[in-house]
Amino acid sequence: MAISCHQSPFKLIPPSPSINLSKPYPSLSLPGSFRCNLSVPSITPLLAEPEPVFASVKSFAPATVANLGPGFDFLGCAVDGVGDFVTLRVDPDVRPGEVSISDIHGVGSSAKKLSKNPLYNCAGIAAIAVMRMLNIRSVGLSLSLQKGLPLGSGLGSSAASAAAAAVAVNEIFGGPLSVSDLVLAGLESESKVSGYHADNVAPAIMGGFVLIRSYDPLDLIHLKFPNDRDLFFVLVSPEFEAPTKKMRAALPKDITMSHHVWNCSQAGALVASVLQGDLEGMGMALSSDKIVEPRRAPLIPGMEAVKKAAIEAGAFGCTISGAGPTAVALTDDENRGMQIGERMVEAFGKDGNLKASAMVKRLDRVGARLVSSIRR
Ligand code: HSE
Repeated sequence: MAISCHQSPFKLIPPSPSINLSKPYPSLSLPGSFRCNLSVPSITPLLAEPEPVFASVKSFAPATVANLGPGFDFLGCAVDGVGDFVTLRVDPDVRPGEVSISDIHGVGSSAKKLSKNPLYNCAGIAAIAVMRMLNIRSVGLSLSLQKGLPLGSGLGSSAASAAAAAVAVNEIFGGPLSVSDLVLAGLESESKVSGYHADNVAPAIMGGFVLIRSYDPLDLIHLKFPNDRDLFFVLVSPEFEAPTKKMRAALPKDITMSHHVWNCSQAGALVASVLQGDLEGMGMALSSDKIVEPRRAPLIPGMEAVKKAAIEAGAFGCTISGAGPTAVALTDDENRGMQIGERMVEAFGKDGNLKASAMVKRLDRVGARLVSSIRR
């Protein structure tokens, strides 16, 4: 199934004075924290439709942990070594201006459940959005998606596909768009499949920790965790699906003033701890959510016991990763991380009657990236 990307004309927007991260995506060379205010138009006006620079490209986007406790919908970070790949090629058999999904493969049953109709596929929606931003009319593209992340796991599966696709389309045309444009393309995808939140897709594209200061206009702040600090995420995923839409439906419509004050102060402490590389402070804040986690944890069998087990095993803190069901705990030592993971897996089994698996991962400081390319 192929679909046109010409739903609306491309908006011409001047360069951002603050950043243009169109290439490379990595943020390692950037200062401590930077703002990416999308109210400031972000790309050089494209006077002509760009030509493809590459015949094909392969991109990768990492898994992400959204919310981090009290940062619901405004804070997330990228996780190293696990994510989705997109291979994209210029395809003369695809109608010019359209994108077609040729195949989807990957972990578990994820690949089989996903639609190849680009209008209903996170990668397809993001690819179409980028093609529309670039005003592509003369070439057709064919996309292959390799899922490294299970669906509905709380690890930003949809965002990783969207981020990898957005980066691949941008890169095949030489990378004219900024990171902020790519986040907007990813957000278009997220809003259709899981909800209007950028706390997965922004870190999937930018790497590291990202704070979404505002959605209208979109205003992103990249928070730099010190390079010399070790930080390990213990990610324990039970065999249980928690679709984001369902987990969002469980959220309270109203909150008390005291919970508002508590969560805001904890979120502030979380941001300060990230910037200071203070893992103990991060862990305390991570564990502290009084608004979202109390509504969601009871929907994930065993979650309360898993959190307790993580803390008892020495984690600095533990909460639900994104909308769940994955539980995320923090530590500064990889071996301890594995021990914490074992205790958490046991707790999912004992209290939730769920099989679970654990992995211990570092922070991904790079975000979505090109992994290979073939020149035309
Ligand atoms: N902030 C979103 C939520 C993240 O918690 O619903 C979903 O991964």
